[in-house]
Amino acid sequence: MGCKLGIVVTSACLLAFGAGLAPAHADAVAVSAVVQNVVASAESPNGQLHVDISIDGEGRLSYAVTRAGKLVIAPSRLGFVLANAPKLDGGFAAGAITHASHDETWEQPWGERQFVRDHYNEVRVEAVQAAQGNRRLAVVFRVFDDGVGFRYEFPDQQQLHDVRITDELTEFHVADTATAWWALGGELSNLEYLYKQTPLDQLSQAQTPVTLKTQTGTYISIHEAALIDYAAIWLRRTDGQTLRTQLAPSSLGPTVVRQAPFNTPWRTMIISDTATDLPMSNIELNLNAPNKLGDVSWVKPYKYVGIWWEMHLDKATWSSGPRHGATTANAEHYIDFAAKNGFRGVLVEGWNKGWDGTWYGNGADFSYTEPYPDFDIKAVSAYGLKKGVHLIGHHETGGNIAHYEDQMDDALKLDQSLGIDSVKTGYVHEFGAARMRAPDGSIFYGNTDSQQAVQHYLKNVVTAAKYHVAIDTHEPVKDTGLRRTYPNWVSREGARGQEYNAWGNPINPPEHDVNLVFTRMLAGPMDYTPGILSLEGNKKDLYSTQAKQLALYVVLYSPIQMAADLPENYAKYPKAFQFIKDVAVDWADTQVLNGEVGEYVTFARKDRHSEDWYIGSIADENARTLSAPLVFLTPGVTYEAQIYRDGPKADLKGDARFDIVIETRAVTRTDTLTLTLAPGGGEAIRFTPVKGKARPSAKAGRK
Ligand code: NOJ
Ligand code: CA
Repeated sequence: MGCKLGIVVTSACLLAFGAGLAPAHADAVAVSAVVQNVVASAESPNGQLHVDISIDGEGRLSYAVTRAGKLVIAPSRLGFVLANAPKLDGGFAAGAITHASHDETWEQPWGERQFVRDHYNEVRVEAVQAAQGNRRLAVVFRVFDDGVGFRYEFPDQQQLHDVRITDELTEFHVADTATAWWALGGELSNLEYLYKQTPLDQLSQAQTPVTLKTQTGTYISIHEAALIDYAAIWLRRTDGQTLRTQLAPSSLGPTVVRQAPFNTPWRTMIISDTATDLPMSNIELNLNAPNKLGDVSWVKPYKYVGIWWEMHLDKATWSSGPRHGATTANAEHYIDFAAKNGFRGVLVEGWNKGWDGTWYGNGADFSYTEPYPDFDIKAVSAYGLKKGVHLIGHHETGGNIAHYEDQMDDALKLDQSLGIDSVKTGYVHEFGAARMRAPDGSIFYGNTDSQQAVQHYLKNVVTAAKYHVAIDTHEPVKDTGLRRTYPNWVSREGARGQEYNAWGNPINPPEHDVNLVFTRMLAGPMDYTPGILSLEGNKKDLYSTQAKQLALYVVLYSPIQMAADLPENYAKYPKAFQFIKDVAVDWADTQVLNGEVGEYVTFARKDRHSEDWYIGSIADENARTLSAPLVFLTPGVTYEAQIYRDGPKADLKGDARFDIVIETRAVTRTDTLTLTLAPGGGEAIRFTPVKGKARPSAKAGRK
């Protein structure tokens, strides 16, 4: 008798799985030979993705994922090691099994698209440990057409009320040989690493998202959603192509301390046939709870400028003294520039006392309510508001979370009173060693991905919401889609941004931005700060053409986008600057026209507040010729395409980076544009309906 998928478990199957039969390659072994002892299953609405949950002969929980009948995730363990009770691993039998389906479309207050469809089938399996007095653990799987999310539920029960987790045993055993794009996790530098492209079996420990491409062309991106009151995961390769969740450590003991009932964050996999489907997935948002803040009309998408790049270029200082950047006069100069060019925000860094000593990794001197004497915060904010410009607050903590929390309420109250409705926070430190306060009031140093730090980042956002302030977190814990629940968490950094092009060693290589699209950006918006039209850091030349700096506004999504260069540099390039002034930041729709991880990508996005569409396309170090069919444009409408493209001499280095062609042409949806990108290049296009013109006949619109 052979093993069957389904509820029937034969002893032959128990033996096979117990012996650890696992495939070398997915296609080499029939799925039914490796996915055994199945107790429950669920399928995606379109029937392509299939998840099986199994309990083996020793009562161990596992799951497997197949796509179109082909194994994607081979049987992979589920479970926990606890500090205060026997492990939740082994000795399980299936208890209650329930199925559910869900299909709903919800509206985002701001985002890459206005409406999001949340469509999945769900299975929930309660696993019962008889030897532990029928102690229960539940796993819930949601299977979407484009991926899978699963989480554990700890029901409240006498046998396990205080839950102290040492290790989470969740595995991802990738069935088919795969290439991985990944960045180090749990290391020195605030998630700010270059991405590596290696065979999956050379990955060590990665932050998530980790993106994989199998040798048969399946893309898998592994991440987590709804990280609340729990330690962030890193993915540690245990053997071959198996990754295991590594919970960020806690200096207080167990990695996670909770009281039941509670749920873990979702462990997520986007699974697709193409790289372009990865950024189109909404499972990250769908696995988060709906908006908890009610009316969030006070959260505004916007573009901003700021006293920022000049410090990174070392032309000014955050600290006080003759080169202090945040002076009243300089801030008013930026406000004038913002008002003249239509930017809503002006970021002022170095405005507050505390920058004069060693602030990074320290932060003990910072005041979040006292400005330096040469910065009249009241006068400057009032000056801005008169011109329709809002100051953006800045709370750099140097990783001193306890010190910041002592002042957080007062600081945000002050911001609200001054009309400052968004704040950039910062947690510059090394090795994740942030200074925090334990529940008993004592001070400890802990990891910025730990449960305690995760609690802080959200506390900051929830406190800010009380004062109608939006938060943009730098050196954050990774994004896990919490903007759905807390829409004032508008953006964050969490990767190497533009700042590395000022002083990085090395600066960002040309493929970095394309890598971001298919890794970090799958987590959510990034405050990358594009728009360095001078193409120059601190004695370093950017590996970017001018057109690429423009394209980044469309490619790297954030509802707040900085025009990061100095006003005097924008004055040198008024024609290219026009695109930065025009480009939208809040989208009704997003489409990915083409792309390959680390090589190139083209986005089309529709402005949520006008009929305009935009294209942004970027390349790695190789020249690319890409095709952009304009099928997304409205039928019967002629658009003026305002094109900012690499010129014929454009290249990665030297003056050739400034070779840009700016031209217009009339187009309709029947046209296909050919995008010719230079090495390190890009193309940005605004499509705006031509007003007062008759609808062209179908023929006239055709090329
Ligand atoms: C690092 C942030 O990423 C950067 O934007 C900021 O200017 C500095 N910290 C200082 O806070
Ligand atoms: Ca940073």
